[in-house]
Amino acid sequence: SNPQYEFIQVTEPRPGVGQITLNRPKALNALSTPLITELNTALLTFQSTPSIRAILLTGSQKAFAAGADIKEMAPLTFSSAYLNSFIESWSNLTTTLKKPLIAAVSGHALGGGCELALMADIIYCTKTANFGQPEIKLGTIPGAGGSQRLTRAVGKAKAMELILTGKSFSGEEAEQWGVAARAFGSYEELMEESLKTAETIAGYSKVAVQAAKEVVNKSQELGLRDGVEFERRVFHALFGSEDQKEGMGAFGEKRKAQWKDQ
Ligand code: HXC
Repeated sequence: SNPQYEFIQVTEPRPGVGQITLNRPKALNALSTPLITELNTALLTFQSTPSIRAILLTGSQKAFAAGADIKEMAPLTFSSAYLNSFIESWSNLTTTLKKPLIAAVSGHALGGGCELALMADIIYCTKTANFGQPEIKLGTIPGAGGSQRLTRAVGKAKAMELILTGKSFSGEEAEQWGVAARAFGSYEELMEESLKTAETIAGYSKVAVQAAKEVVNKSQELGLRDGVEFERRVFHALFGSEDQKEGMGAFGEKRKAQWKDQ
């Protein structure tokens, strides 16, 4: 871990894999502004470190993150939130991060914690993980994209029910509803499988991985016709990469590809 950080730990557990562990155990990893600042710094550092090819974001077994920091938010006024564009910096995660991000969720992923997970490219969780958008119980609403990303993930009917009642849903349900890619029976299995998937992705061409992430994300922004056209343009562009030649050449020669990231 890195002494530069107080609320997170940063490690490189596998070749090509950078891991960020939210580490504010006394507050169940409540996402205070100082924590988010550290998270952004760590993500930007991984983004600009050539050897890092996939990023894993996790919390503890008990809590991925129990939300934005309620104690920090309690006294905020409209003017201060508006003028400082409170929460906007969280979006760095989705806008500046080109490398794939896997969220490994165990325990509570509530409010801003659920929204943080929803910003990841892939969510893995335990079956007993506790997801939810309980903001309504605090007299407010999701503020970090939950009403948009959860609705895209589960559809309007379920999202409306979850956000209006504040009821949580399990990791098992998250998998059934398409929020999580996979739900695992134990914390150990979650962490091992998350690392394995990160390592698998880290083993592919950086150019192809970044393009794949970009085109899938475009599906959330564009209509089908524009999205398919965008995909085709990027697909065409990849014929200009050395790694496409290497990947298809290696297949023909029945050997492992040696990616050049070009
Ligand atoms: C600040 C928090 C916190 C939070 C927990 N804690 N969640 N502090 N902000 N979101 C603190 C508690 O105050 C307590 O500190 C310590 O963590 C342990 O929590 P307990 O409640 O004692 O633990 P437990 O009984 O196990 O209950 C776990 C829990 C509960 C069910 C997750 O803590 C809870 O309901 N938390 C709030 C969840 C929530 O409403 N999240 C949404 C926040 S709003 P002390 O000092 O008392 O020991 C939000 C807005 C998003 O996220 C919009 C923009 C991002």
